Amino acid sequence: MSTLFTSKKMRNLEIKNRIVLPPMVTFSFANEEGFVSKKNIKHYENIAKGGAGLIIVEATCVNQKGRLSQDQLGIWSDDYIEGLSKLVQVCHENDAKVMIQLHHAGLRTPQAVTGDRISSSNYQKGDIVARAMTIEEIHALQDDFIQGAIRAEKAGFDGIELHGAHSYLMTQFFSSKINNRTDEYGGNLDNRLRVAAEIFKGIKKKVKEDFIVGIRMGCNEPDLETSIVMAKKFETLGMDFLHISTGFDNTPIKGEIPEDFPGNWIVYSATKIKEQVDIPIIAVNSIKTPEQASYLIEHDLVDFVAIGRGQLADHNFVNHIKDRKEIATCLGCKPCRWFTNGDQCPRHL
Ligand SMILES: Cc1cc2nc3c(=O)[nH]c(=O)nc-3n(C[C@H](O)[C@H](O)[C@H](O)COP(=O)(O)O)c2cc1C
Repeated sequence: MSTLFTSKKMRNLEIKNRIVLPPMVTFSFANEEGFVSKKNIKHYENIAKGGAGLIIVEATCVNQKGRLSQDQLGIWSDDYIEGLSKLVQVCHENDAKVMIQLHHAGLRTPQAVTGDRISSSNYQKGDIVARAMTIEEIHALQDDFIQGAIRAEKAGFDGIELHGAHSYLMTQFFSSKINNRTDEYGGNLDNRLRVAAEIFKGIKKKVKEDFIVGIRMGCNEPDLETSIVMAKKFETLGMDFLHISTGFDNTPIKGEIPEDFPGNWIVYSATKIKEQVDIPIIAVNSIKTPEQASYLIEHDLVDFVAIGRGQLADHNFVNHIKDRKEIATCLGCKPCRWFTNGDQCPRHL
């Protein structure tokens, strides 16, 4: 267990232990303009007090028209800096480092948010219809992400995570399944990654050297082999960390996972990516027990473990495992899903 509680650096940022809170939206907590509320502040204060070394604040939208829900946190103007800085404050006061995930939903933006859904390419499936972005729109979107990162730095965050996972806009460029552009943003892998690569470079030009910029990416984009190549390209580009989850869809990787491996195919893929790059890797998905988490860190299979629902169910998850106390485990019952009713975790009723 002890290795879990050793510190580790991301560039010059020292994180006191290896446990991360992954980004998790708390939709019902913010108001319809996406400003930080008292509930948001209390939520992150509780988790920071609970002992996580790094908190990645939930998907926060860089453009009002790319929200996943009307009450998603926003960072599309300077007006949001003050509220966001309060989240930073409660995390730092409680000895947690804190980053924020920058997000645009692309074709997943609901009709109620925008009547003009955009994506890398024209798209139609069921009720979802989106149109391909023009080059000018791509450049404007890239600027939205860059401005979002500048605001995050002004708010005091230690860094940002680009949301390059879970079917949202960046994956709609990365994925060969849906990106069929014929310009420099489509075609080969370098072209499909260009949207993120240019955002990354644009951010790094504008922020202080120590400001952390990493990406959440899929391990199945569209397969593990391609994701490993992506990871290497992101490392070469200078990304400060990779947070490994799923890409445009949830298609599992091919091949068997060793029977004694303590985790699912997403966590296993993170360990395979770690073998190929030298930047910090965060593994996530259904890491539920201290034993699983410790195994991954002690055997140097990944650098950090993100525990999401576990820390929602028990805000003191980290302190409890450190003090060898019982944890209130996540029941997997999903009222937290999308946090449309965020107070309904049975562990908090
Ligand atoms: C309530 C809820 C909200 C989520 N919101 C986000 C989000 O904002 N950004 C993101 O990348 N993933 C989001 N996720 C996925 C989590 O970050 C994480 O990958 C997932 O819950 C699996 O980890 P876990 O088994 O430790 O919970 C969310 C998950 C939940 C349960």
